[in-house]
Amino acid sequence: MPETHKELLKGNRDWERNILKIAPDFFEKLSSSQSPKFLWIGCSDSRVPATEITNALPGSIFVQRNIANMVIHTDVNLLSVVYYAVKELKVKHIIVCGHYGCGGVKAAMSNNNYGFLNNWLRHIKDVYRLHQEELDSIEDEGQRLDRYVELNIKEQVNNLSKVSFIQEEWENGEFPYIHGWVYSLKDGLLQDLDVTTNNAEKLDQVFQYNPR
Ligand code: CO
Repeated sequence: MPETHKELLKGNRDWERNILKIAPDFFEKLSSSQSPKFLWIGCSDSRVPATEITNALPGSIFVQRNIANMVIHTDVNLLSVVYYAVKELKVKHIIVCGHYGCGGVKAAMSNNNYGFLNNWLRHIKDVYRLHQEELDSIEDEGQRLDRYVELNIKEQVNNLSKVSFIQEEWENGEFPYIHGWVYSLKDGLLQDLDVTTNNAEKLDQVFQYNPR
């Protein structure tokens, strides 16, 4: 593990040399444009980097990460990334990827005061409120956290489905598909939560937009 910023720069040189050994024209080709097929909305956690855990190269995945992989409708940063990915890059798949043992979800489940962070955690707490009955019924704290992580991913898939310009895309074709995946820090494996959607039909009526 690098300890200093200089080690990161050194690491970059090593990485660049290794890539050139395998594909001498890699950077030349990639420098002209990008056409990733995927948008990844993941957690900022240092242990869940999108390209590494999917064995994908630079150029493969457009990425947005924040604490606990949240989709919040007033987050101009996230919505701009989603808009560009969907409307310009025309990504075919959006992956909301959470992970077991998520510190953000754990913090939201507690009654601890995290200062400024409480404002962000509030959105995660709302997910608890939506699924309070199920979550309260799980006695084991670890299992409850795991389930909370899964439900949070599902709710963020829902939140993306409520974005009007995504629904516009669905009016015109089948893409993008939105997937919910969970990553296990313990074994390094991704699991599909089977909540994939490409329509707004299952959403509450109030969230379904008429074609403009
Ligand atoms: Co996390």
